[in-house]
Amino acid sequence: MERVVTLFLLCPFVFFTTVTSQQDDVCFRPEMAASIEMSGVQRYFNPGAELVLSCKPGYTPVSGPRKIVCTASGQWTKTRLMCIPKLCPYPDPLSNGELYYEDTVYQSTINYTCHEGYVLNGASSAVCQADGTWSVPVPACRPVSCGLAPIPQSGIIIYDKTIRGNTTDYGVTGTYKCLPPYVLIGDARAECTASGTWTKTPECRVVTCPPPENINEGYMSSNEQRDYDYMETVKYGCHGHYVLEGSLQIVCQKNGNWSEKPSCKAPCSVGIQRGRILYKGRKLWIKELDPNRILHKEIVSLYCLDKARGCGYATPTQCIDGNLKIPECFEQPSSLDYNLHSGSLPSEIQQC
Ligand SMILES: *[C@@H]1O[C@H](CO)[C@@H](O)[C@H](O)[C@H]1NC(C)=O
Ligand SMILES: *[C@@H]1O[C@H](CO)[C@@H](O)[C@H](O)[C@H]1NC(C)=O
Ligand SMILES: *[C@@H]1O[C@H](CO)[C@@H](O)[C@H](O)[C@H]1NC(C)=O
Repeated sequence: MERVVTLFLLCPFVFFTTVTSQQDDVCFRPEMAASIEMSGVQRYFNPGAELVLSCKPGYTPVSGPRKIVCTASGQWTKTRLMCIPKLCPYPDPLSNGELYYEDTVYQSTINYTCHEGYVLNGASSAVCQADGTWSVPVPACRPVSCGLAPIPQSGIIIYDKTIRGNTTDYGVTGTYKCLPPYVLIGDARAECTASGTWTKTPECRVVTCPPPENINEGYMSSNEQRDYDYMETVKYGCHGHYVLEGSLQIVCQKNGNWSEKPSCKAPCSVGIQRGRILYKGRKLWIKELDPNRILHKEIVSLYCLDKARGCGYATPTQCIDGNLKIPECFEQPSSLDYNLHSGSLPSEIQQC
């Protein structure tokens, strides 16, 4: 049988190939774990040839011989060499930020991000290098800076904490104030936002309201025909038996308008000639209600007849700004009944 041994002798640029007629098994270049490095580049080895193994950069050898030998049977001797990846130290937490990593072995990556309002000062990722160190130092998350808050004319800002120098950090807050008589229009609270800008600056304006207008059947605490300042108030009252509904006083508001005016509501008369009523807990013949007047929002009851059961019952009704609805069940008695048989009126008979 023809036997061919091809021998690669590694010289800088020259390969020698020898063909012999001697039958001997050769060893092929072995398959090894990716983390293991082998010396030389030759593909065939004669029995007796040695192959030196080592760990690739980034891997550490554990146990096992570092050398294998090609035996006469064309098999390599066994090795238990194992190369385990190097470990980088566990990364420290990032204050005001987050770090993301799955492992800390050679070639792992850490990604760094900062919380809202903070910017990364340094690299955004680090790789575990072959020497077991991280490629870049841990970055820092520095707060976004806003500079000093803009101040409106005739206004000031009072920061919630002492500010040093020309910058304010994300999250710094303050309160605007306007110097009297200027009035703050807008939001008095200010904050250095995550985008490095201050929230909207309010305005300081002089606010006046026009002379207030009177209300029907009412009067005002001040009749001066002048402009009124912000927060000035004027009181209202009602004439006679009119009742004030709404707020007793109005106030000059920021928008230069007065707050809502009250109104005066008219009294009512009970529109029956004959009958008895229940008013303020008393039963009165209508003539006894003198003058015939109940005030806005007051309640009066009239008596109705329950024909089926033959009993009487009081039905309330309320005065609303001069209008008093007579309950539909109320029947005004005739003069005759009223004068001669008043004892049989719904208000006098047994109550239901
Ligand atoms: C780090 O960021 C890169 C690029 O955005 C991404 O592909 C990778 O999955 C991230 N790694 C981790 C551990 O979050
Ligand atoms: C504030 O900034 C101005 C110019 O931007 C500079 O001239 C000044 O020295 C700064 N002041 C402080 C206290 O840093
Ligand atoms: C002030 O009142 C007037 C009249 O009622 C109204 O048209 C106007 O919109 C009000 N102004 C503001 C700023 O609310």
